[in-house]
Amino acid sequence: MQTLSDIIEAEDNSYRPPHIKYETPGGFDLMDLMAFAEHGQPYEWFHKLRAQAPVAWWQPPEHIDVAGFWSLTRHEDVKKCDLDAKRFSSGTGGILMGYSEKAAGPKRLRSAALNSMITMDQPFHIPLRMAHRPFFTPDYIARLQVSVEREVDRLLDKMEAKARKNDGKVDLVTNFSEWLPMFTLCEMLGIDEKDRPKIVRWMHYLEISQYIVTDPDAKVTPLFIMKFLWNIRQMFRYGQKVLEDRRRNPRDDLLTVIATTEVDGEPMNQSYLDGSWLLIIFAGNDTTRNSLSGTMRLLTQFQDQKQMLLDDPNLVPKMVPEALRLVSPVMYMRRTALAEAEFSGQQIMPGEKVVMYYGAANRDPDVFVDPDRMDMHRNNVEDHLAFGTGPHVCLGQRIANMQLETAYRRILDRFPNIAWTGNQRHAPNNFVNAISHLEVDMGLN
Ligand code: HEM
Repeated sequence: MQTLSDIIEAEDNSYRPPHIKYETPGGFDLMDLMAFAEHGQPYEWFHKLRAQAPVAWWQPPEHIDVAGFWSLTRHEDVKKCDLDAKRFSSGTGGILMGYSEKAAGPKRLRSAALNSMITMDQPFHIPLRMAHRPFFTPDYIARLQVSVEREVDRLLDKMEAKARKNDGKVDLVTNFSEWLPMFTLCEMLGIDEKDRPKIVRWMHYLEISQYIVTDPDAKVTPLFIMKFLWNIRQMFRYGQKVLEDRRRNPRDDLLTVIATTEVDGEPMNQSYLDGSWLLIIFAGNDTTRNSLSGTMRLLTQFQDQKQMLLDDPNLVPKMVPEALRLVSPVMYMRRTALAEAEFSGQQIMPGEKVVMYYGAANRDPDVFVDPDRMDMHRNNVEDHLAFGTGPHVCLGQRIANMQLETAYRRILDRFPNIAWTGNQRHAPNNFVNAISHLEVDMGLN
C-alpha cells in the first residue's frame, strides 16, 4: 500500500473555481487561528454564512500554503458529503486544511498526520477500523466504566481540596477535563501509570502545533520552539518504543491491536504506526476534554437544564448529545471531490476541496428549532453531527458518551452548585474547539 505522505500532491492556493454561485460574506477569517483563540467557534458568523452562502468558496491568502476550499454549513450538505465517501475522499488529500511541506516543524508530525485510518479510503479503511472494534464494544465499555467512575471521584476529591485553598475556585481543564480522557485512553491502550502525565503534556504541544508550524507570525520564543520540537520527538519515540514492545510481547490491549494489525497484507510500516499512535492519542483525548469543559459552560448558561438534571439525574444521557451538538468539539473535516457533485445548487468539480463545518451544521435552524438554545428534550437530540457520520464516524463515540455521562452524574451529585465563573481561554486552533482554561466555582460551603 502506498503511503499518503509520499504521494500527496502539493496544494495549489491560487486555484479559484470558475463557477462560484454564492458570494462569501466577510466578518470572520476561517484561517486566522488567533480569531478562534479570541472567539471560539464563530457561531454568529456561521449563521450568516449558512443563510447567505451555504456553500462558500474560501480563498486562502497568498502566504498560506493550502488549497482553497468550499465550506459547507448546512446540516443537509454536511451529512450528504460525510456519507458519500466514494465521491468525497479522505485518502486523496487528507482531512485537515492542508499539510504544507514548506511549513516549519517536524517532518515526522506531518507524515503521521497523513498516514492513519482517518485518512484512508476503501478498501483499506474498513479492515483497519474493524481490527480496533473489540475495544469499542458495549461490553468492553461497561467494564471500563467501573474504573472511570473511580477515577472521576479521585479527580473530584483532588479538585475539591485545591478549590478549598482558593476561595472555591479552580481551573476545570487542568484539574479534571484533561485528566479523565487521558486516564480512560491509557487504560484502553495499556500505558503504564508512570508514563501517563507525559501524554497530557504532549497534548498541550499538539494543540498549538498548527499555530507554531503554519503561522509565520506565531508569537512564540525560540526556547518554546525548542521545547515543542523536543516534546514532539519524545512523543513519537515513546509511541515507537511501546508499539515495538507489543509486537514482541503482545498483551490484551489496544496498543497490541495497533502494533499487530496488517494493512494490505503487511504489518503497518513505521509511518503508519506513528500515524495510528498520533490519531488515537489526539482523537481520544482532546475531543473529550473539550466536551467535558464545554458542557460545564453550557450548564451554567442554561440553568433550567442544570436544574432538570439535579431533579432527575437519569436525564444525563439525554443531556450529553445536546451538549455535544452545542459544543461540537471537532470543528471540521476536509474531503477531496473525486467526481462532480452539487450542494445547495453549487457545483463541485473533481479535485476541489470541501470542508464540513460540524459546529455550523449542528446549529442549522432548519433541523434544530431555536438552535443556540440548550434543550435536552428536543425531539431530535440524536441528529447532531458532532461525531461525524458515514464510514469514518467517530470510532470512540461510545467511550466519549460513557465518560461524559459518568463525569456529569458524579459532578452534579457531589457539587450541585458548581458553576463556570465566566473566565476561559481558547487555544489558537481552527480544527478542534480547544478550551484550554475554564474557571469554575465549585460552590463549596
Ligand atoms: C466527544 C468526543 C469526541 C468527538 C466529538 C469526536 C469526533 C470525531 C469526528 C468528528 C470524527 C470524524 C468523523 C467523520 O469523518 O465522519 C472522529 C473520528 C475518530 N474518532 Fe472521535 N471523537 C470523540 C472522541 C473519541 C474518542 C474517545 C476516541 C478513542 C478512544 C476517538 C477515536 C476516533 C477515531 C479512531 C476516529 C477515526 C475513525 C475512522 O476514520 O474510521 N474519538 N471523531
